[in-house]
Amino acid sequence: EYVWLKDKIISRHDAYVHFDDRGYYFGDGIYEVIRVYDGLPFLFDEHFERFLRSAKELDMPLPYSITTLKENIRHLLQKNDIKNGYVYIQMTRGEQIRDHLYSRDIIPVITAFTKEAEIPVTKQTNGISLLATEDIRWLRCDIKTINLLGNVMAKRRAEDYYCDEALQHRGDIVTEGSSSNIFIVKKGVIYTHPANHYILNGITRQHVFNLAQEEKIPIFEEAFSLEETINADEIFVTSTTLEIMPVINIKGSIETSLQPGTITRKLQQAFKEHTH
Ligand code: PDD
Repeated sequence: EYVWLKDKIISRHDAYVHFDDRGYYFGDGIYEVIRVYDGLPFLFDEHFERFLRSAKELDMPLPYSITTLKENIRHLLQKNDIKNGYVYIQMTRGEQIRDHLYSRDIIPVITAFTKEAEIPVTKQTNGISLLATEDIRWLRCDIKTINLLGNVMAKRRAEDYYCDEALQHRGDIVTEGSSSNIFIVKKGVIYTHPANHYILNGITRQHVFNLAQEEKIPIFEEAFSLEETINADEIFVTSTTLEIMPVINIKGSIETSLQPGTITRKLQQAFKEHTH
């Protein structure tokens, strides 16, 4: 198995990162997770647009062009012979003796690995459960940084309550999952939190807007409350790895049970047609 480290594709066995990497000290880095279907990266350009945006927001220069990055990823996927799975790409600010003040003279460190992974079809059929828990993260959740402690804690808490994912809320307002976006359906209309500083603007989320428009289902970027979540006709979450996932149970701050709905099913079907 091969990985990408700095400017080389090498054996995973030989891949080590530097002791003074700022990613290790400060979580000072960004990443993307990109799905691969039949050997081809899905929504490749969209992921790299977001990668570039994250880099800009954190004042990180890109050591290579997007074209080179994409070529290297394709090369890695071929070398590892990935058919269906995903690729993880990360860029940390670079290596520097520990100092909160980052230097602008250091070179970012890029690493990437690939993984063969099944589509979670059983869960997509049956639905998943969420643990509703307060969103304790910082106010730049729009940046896809590797600094993910709030998300990690929410995910652990969800699992400890036998739930598959977290539903994070800031006070009364539902923001997103620990690593997914959340949607509700009410009277045939889809709602999801606006793409502002409180959430990550998911690539799958953006794709759902296109699918809904194709299917002529009204969809709005409008924040919704915990109470509106309890009263929703359908709830689903989206992410690169989960695709479109119905929610059948919520525990924690709010409690509710429901069934996968017709609009969720329509979107799942439309999603499949775009990838297979
Ligand atoms: N997570 N919100 C958060 C906080 C996320 O971490 C993710 C993705 C999403 C969904 O984004 P997308 O549709 O672009 O995957 C929303 C990835 C999968 C991860 O951290 O593994």
